[in-house]
Amino acid sequence: MDEREIVRIMLSHGLNLTPDAFDIIKGFSEDQFNELLRRISEKFPDAAVVTREMVEPEEVEELEEMLSVEFQASANPVDGTLEEFLRYMRDRFSRIQGLILSRTGLKAMEIAAVKRMSPGESVTVIGMVREKKKTKQGGEMMLIEDISGEIPCFLQNGALKERYDRVVRDSVVAVNGTITKNGGINVRNIIFPDVPQRDRKSIRAEGKIAFISDIHIGSKYFNRKAFSSFIEWASDQDDLKYIILCGDLVDGVGVYPGQETELEVSNVWEQYKLASEFLTHISKRKKIVYIPGNHEPVRQSEPQPPVPDKYSMFLPENSVKLSNPSIIGIGGVRIMIYHGRSLNSVFKYIPGMQPVSPSSVVKAMETLLVLRHLAPIYGEHPIAPGDRDELVIEEVPDVLCMGHIHVYGVGEYKGVKLINPGTFQEETPYIRKMGIEVTPGTVPVLDLKTMNISIERF
Ligand SMILES: [Fe+2]
Repeated sequence: MDEREIVRIMLSHGLNLTPDAFDIIKGFSEDQFNELLRRISEKFPDAAVVTREMVEPEEVEELEEMLSVEFQASANPVDGTLEEFLRYMRDRFSRIQGLILSRTGLKAMEIAAVKRMSPGESVTVIGMVREKKKTKQGGEMMLIEDISGEIPCFLQNGALKERYDRVVRDSVVAVNGTITKNGGINVRNIIFPDVPQRDRKSIRAEGKIAFISDIHIGSKYFNRKAFSSFIEWASDQDDLKYIILCGDLVDGVGVYPGQETELEVSNVWEQYKLASEFLTHISKRKKIVYIPGNHEPVRQSEPQPPVPDKYSMFLPENSVKLSNPSIIGIGGVRIMIYHGRSLNSVFKYIPGMQPVSPSSVVKAMETLLVLRHLAPIYGEHPIAPGDRDELVIEEVPDVLCMGHIHVYGVGEYKGVKLINPGTFQEETPYIRKMGIEVTPGTVPVLDLKTMNISIERF
């Protein structure tokens, strides 16, 4: 709106403006301005001066209304007993078994009952993969088990190799085939829990979400310049409403042997202080959703609780600390956020997944979605066997976001957006050893209205 016109109308209502309120109102359309006048006369009938707070609050409330926390991991402490482990794995099995049955309508038998069948008969079973190995004849086999027993499944059909390779230890799949002479199964098909095709739903929200991850503040390799330009850019974007930070905001201390030689700031409090110097530049009208990664000062076993409150003083008040993993809703869009530590094992164990690149990062995330589990291979990184396996992907999200691997990737699988923001850390000696070509300074931005994703580079 015209600046003189704003002042004239305000004065005609007996209102003065503070300079920062004036700055905001200058960007208003006529409708927004009239709406503001109505709100001021309703809420502040005696006001003589219009301040920034009086101009902003509705928008802040609106943002809060749009954001809902749909799932938080309980991350309860565990003792690590055999009973806990059994309960955890049984919970995983029965829930993913339920997902397979409800999606496919398969009629599956218990493994113990299959043992009583005759060679050549057709059968479908659902099992958790205990082991995969080569047979003496050089073929491929996997041993799967349910509560009733275990059965070897032999891969006979080369056309299934790609599907077979995607099956990792401790994942739950359905196997269809015929009974062998020795009471095993010759595999005809492998059926994943998978996800149904998602329909495009009507979105109630407007605005954009920027996804960032693996900033590693405190590390010598933290790219301060790129992160500063991201902060500057984010502050300038009026339609950017949310920033989702998928873990490793700080580099932490004592995360791996010899880390101290790679730290510029060797105290985690100081690292958070530095983080706050960056984050406080972002307007309070934008929300920052923050989950921990493996560098945060919080328990390492997944699921991880939010970063402890003692560090909150270093985070701006517009930040929301959540668990790893978490599910949030923004204006009806369901977003699952997980740091992505299991991506290492996906790259390690699935043939053909290497090298780490924007397209293979998407493929790796897609594999976890297909297996309906965020970290299927037990024991590759610390996982706490709680009462319930909170890493099962029960509800299918609209957006699945992970970081950790330091290479960005953006894609889509059956209508689910897959986003990995990459990093703001340059190549470290460890990453070089892993042979990963990092992509520092990439930020995927999701437009809620169109659900299109663009990549900003800093
Ligand atoms: Fe990281």
